[in-house]
Amino acid sequence: MYNLINNIKELIYIYNRILIPTDGSHRSDEAIEKGVALAKSMGAKVTVLYVIPKTPIYAQYDFSGASYNAFLLEIEKFGIMMLDLVDERYADSGLKIETKIRKGHPSHEICTEAKEGIYDLIVMASRGLGEIQGYLLGSISSKVVKYSDCSVLIVK
Ligand SMILES: Nc1ncnc2c1ncn2[C@@H]1O[C@H](COP(=O)(O)OP(=O)(O)OP(=O)(O)O)[C@@H](O)[C@H]1O
Ligand SMILES: [Mg+2]
Repeated sequence: MYNLINNIKELIYIYNRILIPTDGSHRSDEAIEKGVALAKSMGAKVTVLYVIPKTPIYAQYDFSGASYNAFLLEIEKFGIMMLDLVDERYADSGLKIETKIRKGHPSHEICTEAKEGIYDLIVMASRGLGEIQGYLLGSISSKVVKYSDCSVLIVK
């Protein structure tokens, strides 16, 4: 009986730390909604992560030094505002949600955060802000599925 109860507990608490990357898109919002519900059902901890994308070197030539810095600041402000909104939205959810910002290439930073933070699940949307092409997965979600060490739940 004791073993049976422990086995059931293990099944229920299969994920303890869930990482939810967001780019602020409505698809991401849906993934946060699902990830938070899943975390609540399992008593897991949640971190919502935004990665300030590093622009490729060639793109930086289009900006003078000053305007490029202003552009980066705007992206950073967008990330902070968006994560503040996530904080507000889930303030009464009964779940403590941590928010975090990293800088770099989004898929690389998402996989690194998952590894460093010893997360056991990444929950993310299949597509995000750049939803123009007809592919099922975007460039970031497909790379995370490919390179992440931990399990990935793709919300469609
Ligand atoms: N900068 C980012 N920071 C955190 N998570 C991100 C970031 N960019 C994308 N993601 C995550 O990846 C998911 C899928 O987005 P992705 O960028 O792969 O698709 P897309 O924007 O539709 O297409 P693409 O960017 O390849 O043109 C997003 O919903 C979000 O969960
Ligand atoms: Mg994108």
